[in-house]
Amino acid sequence: MTVATFLSRRERFALVASTNDIAREWLASDVPEVCLAVADEQSAGRGREGRAWLAPRGVGLLLSLGFRPAWLPPTQAWQLAAVTSLAMAEAGEEVAGLRPGAVRLKWPNDLYAESGSNVAKLGGVLGETDGLGTDDPRAIVGLGVNVDWRAADFPADLAGQMTSLREAGGDHPIDRAALLESFVERLEASVVALRAGRFDAPEWVARQLTTGRLCWLELPDGTVETVRAVGVDTDSGALLVEDPATGNGQQKVHSGEIRHVRLSEPRVAATSGKAAARGGV
Ligand code: BTN
Repeated sequence: MTVATFLSRRERFALVASTNDIAREWLASDVPEVCLAVADEQSAGRGREGRAWLAPRGVGLLLSLGFRPAWLPPTQAWQLAAVTSLAMAEAGEEVAGLRPGAVRLKWPNDLYAESGSNVAKLGGVLGETDGLGTDDPRAIVGLGVNVDWRAADFPADLAGQMTSLREAGGDHPIDRAALLESFVERLEASVVALRAGRFDAPEWVARQLTTGRLCWLELPDGTVETVRAVGVDTDSGALLVEDPATGNGQQKVHSGEIRHVRLSEPRVAATSGKAAARGGV
């Protein structure tokens, strides 16, 4: 096992309110980047859009990374969350024995397992930034993954939408420590690359679950639209959707949540795109 040299501080906690809060406190008290807080359990884990993130002790990997991305243009801060998800997708495939590419990303960076006509959430990312564009930029990338959680123990109201690496791999126990080490090793390589101006855009594009599919997109004002996703924009992190007025052309979605992906019909060929918008970190 290689020891990650890019981590300035790494600590594992039995119980915290939220690992994002730990990373934020560290950044506020001058801990250098990249810092990593991991918890066995959270008492107030947060998801996006004010949701809670719940995971019983010991079955999930709950972590937050703290960055000081003065080396990254603020318009590219979304890439911190993207490399985090990509590193976890590859690590998850390795430890669960899944085929490469089996873990998909649902824009912007949530982790999904796709099997046949079924798709279920494996993990989610909560990015929080402060002071981007100033001389003291801070970014926290929180990641929660369902790891060694048995389907029989999933909460009844979520059982149809969620899965775990254990279940995706055929009900084999998953070693959370091995997953963490594999993730850290992969993340180190991609953060080093990102610092040198290299982002693995083809990999981020290839893993997107939504491309070519009809989706229900909830916009920040709460309205829900049915859109066809046609790709993601590798300059800005935006979701690209077919222009509803013309049926062709592309619109960039800067923020929003995909509530549902329709898997029951064939994909429409994807197009590539370059544009300007933020998926958010
Ligand atoms: C989502 O899908 O809504 C995002 C979930 C993010 C959950 C992780 S768990 C570790 C970190 N700490 C938190 O409080 N949230 C993130």
